[in-house]
Amino acid sequence: MVNRALLRELKLSLYAKGYCHLELGSIEEYEALSAQLGIVFAKTNIEVDTSKGGALLTSKGMSLHTDHPIAKYVAWFCECPSMDGGESLLMDSHELIDNFTASEKDALRSIFVRIPAGGEKKYELAPMLSQFGLYYADWLIHRPQQKSGDALNIFIKRLEQSKPAEIKLKKNDALFIDNKRVLHGRKAFYGNTRRLVRYWIKTRIHIND
Ligand SMILES: [Fe+2]
Repeated sequence: MVNRALLRELKLSLYAKGYCHLELGSIEEYEALSAQLGIVFAKTNIEVDTSKGGALLTSKGMSLHTDHPIAKYVAWFCECPSMDGGESLLMDSHELIDNFTASEKDALRSIFVRIPAGGEKKYELAPMLSQFGLYYADWLIHRPQQKSGDALNIFIKRLEQSKPAEIKLKKNDALFIDNKRVLHGRKAFYGNTRRLVRYWIKTRIHIND
């Protein structure tokens, strides 16, 4: 049973600023709220696991990016916080892009970003900017052309100069973001107690379905 007041707060906050930080009582509440936003199509435990590759499962910081482009929303539930560090970083892409010129926005639409994929096919490509919003990770940019590269450089410079919101999740806190609008990252942390449960949520109708 979903808490109607929390759901209303969640939807209003996602609409107004692209993210919502909630203090919840249990992971069941998190699951119920997530299910109201769409279909949870991937669940990942985010914790230090040195047996696997990639920065995600380490204690390192992560630069601002968006997740898989099919995920309209990304959510995290904090099962155990870090002792020190690990703040979530959030930046609204509207603040970065809204005053780009029309030609600069066209240039961003011509840039493609790799979507990591399993199996024999190594990756697919998605536009950095589309009618659905932003898809961006600096380590996944696919060979920008010179003209589009200029707009990309402006975007990167603005991103580097931006002042993202910082949120330190406590036990039983949840953070929901509009993944097509808000870039996220994290600060490095210490120790290996930090454990989050991440959901990728797609809306019921999506161009990539
Ligand atoms: Fe991410």
